[in-house]
Amino acid sequence: MQPLVEVRDLRYQYDDGTVALDGVDFQLFPGETVAVLGANGSGKTTFVLHLNGLIMGKGSVTVCGMPVEPATLTHVRQKVGLVFQDSDNQLFMPTVLEDVAFGPLNLGLARDQAETRARDALAAVGMAHASSKAPYHLSAGEKKRVAIAGILAMNPEILVLDEPTTFLDPPGQNALVALLDELPQAKILVTHDVDCARALASRAVFFQKGKIAGEGPVQEVVARFNWDRISLQRPAGSRL
Ligand SMILES: Nc1ncnc2c1ncn2[C@@H]1O[C@H](COP(=O)(O)OP(=O)(O)O)[C@@H](O)[C@H]1O
Ligand SMILES: [Mg+2]
Repeated sequence: MQPLVEVRDLRYQYDDGTVALDGVDFQLFPGETVAVLGANGSGKTTFVLHLNGLIMGKGSVTVCGMPVEPATLTHVRQKVGLVFQDSDNQLFMPTVLEDVAFGPLNLGLARDQAETRARDALAAVGMAHASSKAPYHLSAGEKKRVAIAGILAMNPEILVLDEPTTFLDPPGQNALVALLDELPQAKILVTHDVDCARALASRAVFFQKGKIAGEGPVQEVVARFNWDRISLQRPAGSRL
């Protein structure tokens, strides 16, 4: 089977000299959800920014058979929908509907077609009722749903989500996991939330210092890198 995303020996250095990616190899196959785990600063966000060409390093990134390069960016960005960690970076129009219609309009769709896509996408994330609201009035969970709708309106084949549950309360996190579980696209899910990774991903990769230090079933990777929540070991009766 052809991978949807194929990354080979990807290297990236920021202008200040920080080596953020130091030889990453990665594949995503149709139907898969892969969790991307690893410490803060290990290169996860730098990695996902390469998947739709927001930054370009050395090595190769191929999406649906297309090399990611300046000439293919328009096509690549239709295939890969990237949901940023902070929804405020994604939402900037006066109303939710306009925000979600922005992508399809940018693709060249007529306004009524773009709005139809936007309404369908908002319905898919359970936010149809908020179409005429201002995005900045929404809760963090609602903003995340609208940001996802903006991506879905582009009909992507691959969803890439950078720490989607970070700013959400527990019910919001559960609702988001349920939503993501229903979306049929292949997914790359950057997360510190091991429960979320376990619920959604069939496999995990673990970033360390700009490299993938290990991969496998989520639970195996979590155990190998000791990546679960801390459980305090107190002697019995010591709790006040
Ligand atoms: N714009 C930037 N300029 C310089 N260094 C950066 C920039 N963005 C990230 N970095 C550095 O690159 C490394 C990887 O960061 P990042 O990809 O954001 O990691 P993660 O998403 O895993 O927390 C870190 O050392 C971080 O400090
Ligand atoms: Mg990050």
